[in-house]
Amino acid sequence: MLRRLIGGMIAMSGALACAADWPTPDPDAPVPTAKPGTALFHAQMCAQYLGPIPRASCSDAQVVPVSVDGVEIPWTRNRPSWPTEQPKACDVPDALSGTCQQGNGVARYPGTHHDGSPREEVIYLAFCRDGGLGLIGYNRTTGATCFFHMSHNVANTATHPGSNDPGYEAYWQAPAIVAKDQCQGCHQADPFIHSPWVDLLKDPDNPEEPLVPIIAGPANPRPPYYVLGDEFSQPVSAELPNNVCTTCHRPACDNRFTMPLGDLNMPPPFKDYHHTDVWAEDRQALREWCDQASDGGA
Ligand code: HEC
Ligand code: HEC
Repeated sequence: MLRRLIGGMIAMSGALACAADWPTPDPDAPVPTAKPGTALFHAQMCAQYLGPIPRASCSDAQVVPVSVDGVEIPWTRNRPSWPTEQPKACDVPDALSGTCQQGNGVARYPGTHHDGSPREEVIYLAFCRDGGLGLIGYNRTTGATCFFHMSHNVANTATHPGSNDPGYEAYWQAPAIVAKDQCQGCHQADPFIHSPWVDLLKDPDNPEEPLVPIIAGPANPRPPYYVLGDEFSQPVSAELPNNVCTTCHRPACDNRFTMPLGDLNMPPPFKDYHHTDVWAEDRQALREWCDQASDGGA
């Protein structure tokens, strides 16, 4: 509760500058029935701001292609590759691990209102990496964001129930466990991370656009981003004086990734890891800030 209050106070002081207010629940949302602290309570609470949380499965994921010298290395198994099975080096490694693990990908689910009608401002992305499944729900109008992670007792290719389905609890982790992962400590700029690797996936309805939507930018500077759930802390939102890096989005520290995403040409979609010399001083100043922030900017 205390964090919620602090978050609310930060949101209020931000509101004086220009940011959106702390989100309010949907008036037609069902009141949570589950015990606070449980996975189902977290989902029901989040549903009050996002609409019902959908079912998710890594069987729905678009798999990121892995190529070496422009030639795609096929992967047909319904599981991620082991280190001995995959190339040691590839054209576009993932940003987090810097490896070429195959069989990983992202599924995207549209948001809905409580009456089932489409809710354009809400989107869910499920991430399938190394046999796990992390899910992020985001309301781009209010900034309401929820993080979920599957229970390790179930395969990520199973259909994980949504907030209105029976059996939710057995498939998802309790929020206190998810919060320990510090999702927002890496997902800092806004809820979704871009990397050359994840940007290989395109929106099937509009192949010009990446599957992971670009939220921040000059037209939508420092988009609203509030992490819901008393177990979670809020993303960093410092604005470095006279530093271009915190104008489009919150400070995005890349010190927890293997690949230096901050070196790339902004804004994404990113194509490869070619680094740019543009804004070198601002980048340097941001990196110093990230290293000094006692918790790595998280
Ligand atoms: C140590 C840093 C780190 C942490 C902690 C982290 N992520 Fe991520 N996540 C990444 C990176 C980096 C990517 C982009 C893929 C890549 O290139 O590695 C990503 C991608 C994703 C994606 C795909 C959509 C997108 O934003 O690109 C989802 C969904 C996701 N993560 C969910 C989560 C959830 C849920 C948690 C907490 C349980 C979490 N992540 C914790 C680094 C992290
Ligand atoms: C013109 C707008 C713009 C500017 C200026 C900008 N960025 Fe970004 N940057 C983006 C967008 C858009 C993303 C994708 C994530 C998002 O939608 O917030 C991004 C993503 C990133 C990421 C990858 C992690 C993530 O959350 O996706 C890092 C790291 C990053 N920026 C660092 C920087 C640094 C360092 C600077 C200053 C040298 C900078 N950015 C300046 C628009 C910008």
